[in-house]
Amino acid sequence: MPTLATTVDGLKLPNPFVIGSGPPGTNANVIGKALDEGWGAVIAKTISLESTKVVNVQPRYARLRSASSEIIGWQNIELISDRPFDVWLDEFKRLKDKYPDGVVIASIMEEYNKDRWCEIVERTQATGVAGFELNFSCPHGLPERKMGSAMGQDCALMEEVCRWVMSVAKIPVWAKLTPNITHIDETAIAALKGGCHGVSAINTILSVTSVDLETLRPEPTVEGYSTPGGYSCIAVKPIALRMVKECAEAIRHQFPGRSLSGIGGIETGADAAQFILLGADTVQVCTGVMKVGYDCVAKMKDDLLAFMARHKFETISDFKGHSLQYFTTHSDLVKRQAEARAAAKAAKASGVVTKDTEWQGDAFVRQSDALARN
Ligand SMILES: Cc1cc2nc3c(=O)[nH]c(=O)nc-3n(C[C@H](O)[C@H](O)[C@H](O)COP(=O)(O)O)c2cc1C
Repeated sequence: MPTLATTVDGLKLPNPFVIGSGPPGTNANVIGKALDEGWGAVIAKTISLESTKVVNVQPRYARLRSASSEIIGWQNIELISDRPFDVWLDEFKRLKDKYPDGVVIASIMEEYNKDRWCEIVERTQATGVAGFELNFSCPHGLPERKMGSAMGQDCALMEEVCRWVMSVAKIPVWAKLTPNITHIDETAIAALKGGCHGVSAINTILSVTSVDLETLRPEPTVEGYSTPGGYSCIAVKPIALRMVKECAEAIRHQFPGRSLSGIGGIETGADAAQFILLGADTVQVCTGVMKVGYDCVAKMKDDLLAFMARHKFETISDFKGHSLQYFTTHSDLVKRQAEARAAAKAAKASGVVTKDTEWQGDAFVRQSDALARN
């Protein structure tokens, strides 16, 4: 019987399905709901020391639908949590009491200031949270304060902040990377050089979902104006898979043993299997939960288990990163195809039978000889 149970950076998870930071982990009530429904871990909505600086607008989402009306893309201009830090500390403590084995990870973000980062780490870890995810990747709003993706786009700065965090952190730390950059592997390396146990990829992609053709205003429209926001959901999965592959290769070559959490458009067990095949230890789901609710994890777990049984994989590590070996360069693809075609042509010319339809009455003995070894 295959098992979904897995240990990542010492964290014992009943399964690799993790709630990604965002609305599905925005207070103790919904975090508890996620744990009750059987999620392997929950990453809470990103918090900072001063919530008074966080002011959200409504509406703040714009969705893209397919021709059949399915939601396939989701833009948000939501900021980090607007709930006071002390309230969060209290809720983390209460969650630890109620779910002693539940894995709750705090997502944190701060300004470029060592004291502030050390303070948020020390005060938050005192509540008993299982780990940290450092939000270096929110692409809207926060960069105006030089936070979020403004930090994650600067390797030297991010490495320095990771070192500050690691100087006081006593629990596992993942750095959440931004896709709004040309080479995500360089930022993964910076975070891992800074001492983080792992990286998470990807956060949202900076986007403009649509322009209303009546009002001529871009969406989401707030008092007639808009600002580009973070794109998520099914539409981002191909980009997320490519970026996870690049992070996995960087980890494999330079930081073996460090962890990788895959994120972006995951809604099914099959999606999860693909991220794990490209090197993810865990998979995070955010928009999927906003679309269909917390109970989707049951089917995702069943489907991932069925995939594992079909391939006789007993554990997640049996297939983690398996498909990375099948990537190569384009010039190597050309070479492989030329060699395969030449081999097929040579076989045909030599009269070697490759399919039963090729046997011929006149050449029967020669064809039999060509298939013999002696
Ligand atoms: C409405 C919304 C709010 C989000 N808030 C946060 C956040 O506070 N911190 C964070 O690290 N990521 C945040 N994210 C990003 C998600 O955690 C995730 O990285 C991204 O949406 C891609 O995954 P998905 O396609 O499963 O949603 C948010 C995403 C959405 C849709």
